[in-house]
Amino acid sequence: MIKEQSIKIFPTIDKLAGSFAAFLNQKIDETPEDEFFSIALSGGSTPKIIYKYLSDNFKDKINWEKTKIFFGDERCVPPDDEDSNYRMANESLLKNIPISKENIFRIKGENDPVKEAKRYEEILKSNLTLINKIPQFDLILLGLGEDGHTASIFPNQINMFYSTRLCEVAIHPQTKQKRITLTGKIINNAKQVVFLITGKNKAEVLSKIFDVNNYKNKFPASLVNPENGNLTWLLDMETSKMLDAKSKTKLIK
Ligand code: 6PG
Repeated sequence: MIKEQSIKIFPTIDKLAGSFAAFLNQKIDETPEDEFFSIALSGGSTPKIIYKYLSDNFKDKINWEKTKIFFGDERCVPPDDEDSNYRMANESLLKNIPISKENIFRIKGENDPVKEAKRYEEILKSNLTLINKIPQFDLILLGLGEDGHTASIFPNQINMFYSTRLCEVAIHPQTKQKRITLTGKIINNAKQVVFLITGKNKAEVLSKIFDVNNYKNKFPASLVNPENGNLTWLLDMETSKMLDAKSKTKLIK
């Protein structure tokens, strides 16, 4: 059962980024002295903007040495490929902040996908606290695709969300590109999941995800339901424009 679900709608992406940065800073500061704050980064255009904001405004404010950085999914390409989520996160954030390289755990897209999914599972098990025998992230960031995918769990492979594995090899439905993705087993075991979604092209799918009567089109993103954690949706005005009035009451001025 989600502990707390909240929707926050921001007039600009800058205000969304500022709110997220302050939230992240507070959570890291609250981390006990001898512990790390574990974050799974997402790919995507909105997360990229947030990472740049953190790099520009919080590189000296956040205690990055108290974080361990992981990835929610990765394209099966080398780390210097323009498609690589690691390359995007490194260029927009990681290379600019004071964090030890050994605290960055990228998914090695250049490896054999099946072997890499297994390797990454072991990385998660040995670096995260186990809750109910499942590794628990302090924070998982997620984006949302126009088709309702999240991480790299696509509607035509939605059952992958229920995998007994922590990581699976997915295939992008259009490009057929292989990807490594976290599954619902670890996503729904997180302390906190934050969706970062902006742009009018996500308004329709988001309204369907929030439509309680829309039991037909189950989307991977609508299966995100941290059993003992919090779920937060950080949206801009464009993305939220088709939400019902009740949801919109969360508008942050
Ligand atoms: C990825 C992400 C993916 C992304 C959504 C939204 O590897 O691309 O994990 O889930 O967050 O596709 O991407 P945009 O914000 O670019 O639309």
